[in-house]
Amino acid sequence: MADTPIKATLTLDGQTYDLPVLSPTEGPDVIDIRKLYAQTGMFTYDPGFTSTASCDSSLTYIDGGEGILLHRGYTIGELAEKSNYLEVCYLLLYGELPSLKEMEKFQKTITQHTMLHEQMTGFFKGFRRDAHPMAIMVGVVGAMSAFYHDSTDINDPQQREVATHRLIAKMPTIAAWAYKYSIGQPFIYPRNDLDYASNFLRMCFAVPAEDYEVSPILARAMDRIFTLHADHEQNASTSTVRLASSSGANPFACIAAGVACLWGPSHGGANQACLEMLREIGTVDRIPEFIARAKDKDDPFRLMGFGHRVYKNFDPRATVMKQSADEVLDLLGVEDNPILQVAKELEKAALADPYFAEKKLFPNVDFYSGIILEAMGFPTSMFTPIFALSRTVGWISQWKEMIEDPSMKIGRPRQLYTGESKRSYIAADERD
Ligand code: SDX
Repeated sequence: MADTPIKATLTLDGQTYDLPVLSPTEGPDVIDIRKLYAQTGMFTYDPGFTSTASCDSSLTYIDGGEGILLHRGYTIGELAEKSNYLEVCYLLLYGELPSLKEMEKFQKTITQHTMLHEQMTGFFKGFRRDAHPMAIMVGVVGAMSAFYHDSTDINDPQQREVATHRLIAKMPTIAAWAYKYSIGQPFIYPRNDLDYASNFLRMCFAVPAEDYEVSPILARAMDRIFTLHADHEQNASTSTVRLASSSGANPFACIAAGVACLWGPSHGGANQACLEMLREIGTVDRIPEFIARAKDKDDPFRLMGFGHRVYKNFDPRATVMKQSADEVLDLLGVEDNPILQVAKELEKAALADPYFAEKKLFPNVDFYSGIILEAMGFPTSMFTPIFALSRTVGWISQWKEMIEDPSMKIGRPRQLYTGESKRSYIAADERD
């Protein structure tokens, strides 16, 4: 970022303050308020951070008005079409697309970290069988701090690198085993001869009783879903990871915090909530009823999979996801899937409705992903774990960028206090 000749002038009680304005490579300039409190004795106030840049980052750029998403300058559309998830992991981590040799080395490193410490199987078995897979993921990812002590020292670049590779490599195994545990089937171990997405599908759907062949088209669709969810600027779960990391907590604990935040239905839990909503709508003729509810101020119901804090146009990931949904359902011979029909008609009806147009509510990344995942055979409870698996590279890349920044400080927001002013204690027998 660069200082600009522009100054922001703030006038308070006749006193004026000049605030520096910093300019980015792309996107809005920012007013640097780091010295504001020291100069004015005042805080800024921005619950939900709708107008706040919490950091500088070179990983991902989003233009909500134009529906643009870049990872290190490459559009999500090109990456989804021409690249693959592990190559995007390399790009996010190291800033450039890898050479063939670099990619081969990276792929081999990740492959060799896919197994979990055998004692972790016991950790899984401590959960009830009906535990939500996200509850298991939060627990198991946090517990990695207890199994991989040799990669928890954040001041050792080598340990940071190993922790990064372990997290990217082991999340598919953790997610797949959380699923297997919930359906009472034995864990399937990763295989080093399979690519990342094929390995995950096999760990989820293979059983020891027979061979399992991964469909290359489903593996490609799975890989594309991973890519579309890889990183997304300073969203709620990434901001959680950054805030946790700013205290110096170990990477496994910080990523577990990100998994916990992603679980919410307003964030990564929306794909599960969206499919449950589509199922509740059930048939195209019930769509008007749900559109009316979404517009009713007295009804807390919202159209899950619609709207976005940043995208006030279309979510470029939803566009790619919609194409993928058509391909996968066509391949599986379920192109007339009633849920997909409801989704397509709901999208059409919502986009034609002035309420949604005025409020700029468009389908987001979660709208179509659930349809593909359901068609692939995943239960809705596995949708957010798959989002968490995919976003791990984004979380850990943002963590890496922050930890390597020598100016990193602990995050400590202030508040607008609205409680009682100072008052004296009243003995119990003197109270009303
Ligand atoms: C993700 O940040 C990211 O990048 C997240 C993510 C990522 O990759 O990390 O992109 C992933 O989380 C995508 C979003 C998934 N969530 C959902 O699909 C849940 C449904 N969407 C909403 O909860 C909502 O749209 C949010 C949370 C996504 C965004 O909310 P905002 O920006 O805080 O907007 P808001 O709640 O202030 O709503 C603005 C207006 C309100 O009406 P008014 O009070 O102005 O009259 O729009 C309405 C809202 O009532 N509104 C909706 C709506 N979303 C907003 N009305 C009906 N249906 C909806 N889905």
